[in-house]
Amino acid sequence: MHILSMSDLNLTDKRVMIREDFNVPMENGVITSDARIMAAIPTIKLALEQDAKVILISHMGRPKEGEYDEPYSLAPVAKRLSELLGQEVRFEKDWLNGIEINNGEVVLCENTRFNVGEKANDDGLSRKMAALCDIFVMDAFATAHRAQASTHGVACFAQTACAGPLLMGELDALERAIANPARPMLAIIGGSKISTKLTVLEKLLDMVDFMIVGGGIANTLIRASGHFIGKSLCEENLLGEAKSLLKKANKHKTTIPIPVDVVVAKELSVDAIPEIKPVDKVMHDEMILDIGPQTIQMYQELIKQSKTIIWNGPVGVFENDHFAKGTEAIAHAIADSSAFSIAGGGDTLAALEKFDVMDKLSYISTGDGAFLEFIEGKKLPAIEILERRAN
Ligand code: 3PG
Ligand code: MG
Repeated sequence: MHILSMSDLNLTDKRVMIREDFNVPMENGVITSDARIMAAIPTIKLALEQDAKVILISHMGRPKEGEYDEPYSLAPVAKRLSELLGQEVRFEKDWLNGIEINNGEVVLCENTRFNVGEKANDDGLSRKMAALCDIFVMDAFATAHRAQASTHGVACFAQTACAGPLLMGELDALERAIANPARPMLAIIGGSKISTKLTVLEKLLDMVDFMIVGGGIANTLIRASGHFIGKSLCEENLLGEAKSLLKKANKHKTTIPIPVDVVVAKELSVDAIPEIKPVDKVMHDEMILDIGPQTIQMYQELIKQSKTIIWNGPVGVFENDHFAKGTEAIAHAIADSSAFSIAGGGDTLAALEKFDVMDKLSYISTGDGAFLEFIEGKKLPAIEILERRAN
């Protein structure tokens, strides 16, 4: 893949606009995980070292276009950035028609998704953004699957469009895990719905040796392999697809272990009474909320054998301590393994943070949907345009 890299350009005196992904989780105006902000810091520092004029843009959540809506404001991110950079990051609410900026300054622009035309990748809006900079740097891998004005359109019209070091690093790590993986290769895919991950699961069957599934996806496969799962989260309408997935796995000699024991409860709450039982003993008023100790052991064994591990999505409701043991054991097993390991996705990162193993994996991707689409082999529009601009 040939794309222009920010590190090959002279940024001095230039207006450098960096597309970040500051779509961070927030509760009542307080940032609950700053992993994505931390990941952006080295690129910003690199631009500052060269005395550039640094303009940062990002979206936050999915607000209605054309309306200011405070819960979606990036103002708290400007504050956190100032702390992390040790210099003031000026916050600009109205920025589209021009930004005053000096060398060595950093400006964060308000949520790109407040602008009409952002989602539609509108040319007029894209041109306005492009006019604000000399160099556009795409550094938000997590948004690279979106063809929007601030990820794609602006890159069409900017004088120069390139990839930042964070994006380059993400692409390198993912290529390493996917293009020529050390084997055996294991994928762990969890999450509530099989429907949103069906295509990536199918694609992964061609690539991996072992596949561990978790959450609602696992429930649907447990059901498809003939077990009664009570009132567990499951997509009944996809049982046919789930069955063909298992059949295909068999044909490809890909191991998809089905849990042998599970943790169930009658309700999902802090007062829930968890019970460990064999997978074929789930009652009609119970739901599966985590994997049991024998299944944990089985999964630990697979993790130990693997030389490449891709992880997206927890295997239980780890936010609730009653149902966290499965995800915790997996996080630790991956942390202890010498495999090339890469994890991505909001829930997965939250689990890694909770179990304090963030720095024990080979690579942490900031991507969620983009991470999965990349693995699926889909062309990401924000990368494609950088390739086109480089030619
Ligand atoms: C994400 O959190 O996955 C990215 O920031 C993209 O957000 P979006 O799904 O709202 O486009
Ligand atoms: Mg998302």
